[in-house]
Amino acid sequence: MCGIVGAIADRDVALVLLEGLKRLEYRGYDSAGLAIIDARAQLQCHRAVGKVNELEKLLVSKPLQGQIGIAHTRWATHGKPSDLNAHPHIANNEIAIVHNGIIENYEKLRARLVDFGCVLSSETDSELIAHLVYLHIQSGKNFLAAVQATITELEGAYAIGLLSRTEPNHFIAVRSGSPLVIGLGDQINFIASDQLALLPFTQQFIFLEEGDIADVRLNEVIIYDTHGNEVKRDIHYTKLDQEEMSKGKYQHFMQKEIFEQADSVIACLEGRLSYQRVISEAFGANANEIFKQIRHVQLVACGTSYHACLVGKYWLEEIAGISCQAEIASENRYRQHVVEPGTLYVTLSQSGETADTLAALRHAKTLGYAATLAICNVPESSLVRESDLVLMTGAGMEIGVASTKAFTTQLVALFLLTITLGRNSRIDQNSEAEYVKLLRAIPKKLRNTLMLDSDIKNLAIKLKDKNHVLFIGRGIEYPIALEGALKLKEISYIHAEAFPAGELKHGPIALIDSEMYAIALAPIEDSLDKLKSNLQEIRAREGKLIICTNEEAGFISDDQTSLLIMPHVHKFLAPLIYTIPMQLFAYHIAVMKGTDLDQPRNLAKSVTVE
Ligand code: M6R
Repeated sequence: MCGIVGAIADRDVALVLLEGLKRLEYRGYDSAGLAIIDARAQLQCHRAVGKVNELEKLLVSKPLQGQIGIAHTRWATHGKPSDLNAHPHIANNEIAIVHNGIIENYEKLRARLVDFGCVLSSETDSELIAHLVYLHIQSGKNFLAAVQATITELEGAYAIGLLSRTEPNHFIAVRSGSPLVIGLGDQINFIASDQLALLPFTQQFIFLEEGDIADVRLNEVIIYDTHGNEVKRDIHYTKLDQEEMSKGKYQHFMQKEIFEQADSVIACLEGRLSYQRVISEAFGANANEIFKQIRHVQLVACGTSYHACLVGKYWLEEIAGISCQAEIASENRYRQHVVEPGTLYVTLSQSGETADTLAALRHAKTLGYAATLAICNVPESSLVRESDLVLMTGAGMEIGVASTKAFTTQLVALFLLTITLGRNSRIDQNSEAEYVKLLRAIPKKLRNTLMLDSDIKNLAIKLKDKNHVLFIGRGIEYPIALEGALKLKEISYIHAEAFPAGELKHGPIALIDSEMYAIALAPIEDSLDKLKSNLQEIRAREGKLIICTNEEAGFISDDQTSLLIMPHVHKFLAPLIYTIPMQLFAYHIAVMKGTDLDQPRNLAKSVTVE
């Protein structure tokens, strides 16, 4: 979850590192720090609680100069945000470290180091690594060998960058369970948690593999694998565009990303549809062969991506007639699996680096699933590299911590999967052509729905001072209610819960009084009459309703009930369209409350710790 960046150059690196940190702030932002080795071969370090701009102020008042350095933006795991817990951590003025991940044998290592007489100045697990490296150097090893020896003692997940005061002509980086890339420049080389950090400086990257150690020098980068053998890793040239990292005419990245959704769906469909068919090779050259054996699907993800799985389960069973389970990755990984023959294991992730999802995939690969498929937004991510089949969502860079366009494109990807798998069971050519037509209509429907922005903003005023809001849906809308509640919680800090409408009477209805607002998702669909009865039960207890619906559903507004009239959409694709008001309610309420909605408290964009 933390962001790390490092550089070695023929010029000062402090401002380069600072720029990299700003671009990694989505990974964590409770404190930041930077260490360099100066011209007198001394380690110099600044650390500051708060966002990267606090560190920037420190660097303006007390500049640091040096041609090699490492930097970090933190999302606290061990120890609260404080100057002392901020990275880099320095052992005996000799070794500096930045770390992303969690050291699981932290307690044992800490006790051992304390017994040994080490003076620890933070509560973090990360500082221990610096002391271990220092001790190995004291025992006669060089810097690289000391790092190699240290990592044999670590359990857990980590990406680390290390400086040694006495070896100022290189730094060492290790990737094991947390992402790390090498950036290659002209008289400058880098490491970073994400290539986004380095886009202003280079377009050439090496994606380290699990267990790799990189020895980063001014004119070369030497990589060793887990066994200590020197290895060559491919250099990738990224097409990512720096412009994508600007807000353009929008006030927030989240707002920009909400309004990009028609275009991101177009991008997601590009190259995936022929005139009347889904091109199944879009999942991989051997996809057809694999899909022929598939009888069941297991969908796995976290957070918003998990909500997409719930919609996917509905589609796969209802449209394709293929049995499907959807499960949260952190649960899926730690339970016994009964793997039916012919089960496709599908992970969904915007980042492709979510630790729970990756761990679930790695575990699943040992269990006899027929194949693995990643539906992901980041082509170079671990999830993509480690799956048999891949469908990229093509949403473009998503920067706001609250996931928006990644979600709608995941839904489109799952619909493509449903059609493709359904061909081997229930979907004939005519119905495939109908579904393809529906898919092609989505961008226009999304645009029309986005035009309701000011209506949604007006309705949002009713909710901004509430402490609790309920979201109600039935069937395929229930996951969208869950998504609405998650969006509201994470950026406005209002407590929100989602319920399947039929479940209200089994408990949650006790929450209803005249102060309670419920947002209901009520497009025309098979169980609309049932939903209407459930909403009457809320009204009978003086609860207030905001109903997202369409003309044909026949709702009437009054003092207790407000309506948001949505464009008409086929029932299967309603989740895509009804997601928009969920996102915009949360967005406008958060703006009215003045929260830092692109970087909400306690969260990070990419959750790379379990
Ligand atoms: O990158 P991923 O899709 O794997 O991330 C999963 C969740 O951490 C993510 O969706 C999270 O719930 C978002 N903040 C939701 O807006």
